Amino acid sequence: MKEVKIATWSEVADRTPVGAQVSNVDLVIVRFDDNHSVLYGRCLHRGALMADGSVSGDNLICGLHGWDYLFQTGVSSYNNAEQLAKFSSWLEGDDLCVDQDEIEIWEQSHPQPYDRAAYQGGFQDPMVTRPNRTSA
Ligand code: FES
Repeated sequence: MKEVKIATWSEVADRTPVGAQVSNVDLVIVRFDDNHSVLYGRCLHRGALMADGSVSGDNLICGLHGWDYLFQTGVSSYNNAEQLAKFSSWLEGDDLCVDQDEIEIWEQSHPQPYDRAAYQGGFQDPMVTRPNRTSA
């Protein structure tokens, strides 16, 4: 296990998505009261950053086309087959931490299509780079 800090807990607003990145994987943090979820931070529809979305009720809503995911589990309320990966997270004092090893192992089976060194490479449409996906 390789513990890494991704946020200062006292600065994470309640029910307001916050982005983070570990290795080449975007994450989204959702604080709900004294609890937290750390989910894969890209929408499964077209790859928008979920940190740019919003929370409504128990759902994290993508800001582009409204796909919804239960922020406690990552499972889509609309289509239970769609699920944002949920990663282990915990507090060390005021540090919100994750296991970098866990995320990197997940990334090996979920290669990220984003060329962050290229102009706007972090905003590539995965439907273009992974054309075998069927979602429109
Ligand atoms: S990219 Fe999230 S709903 Fe379309």
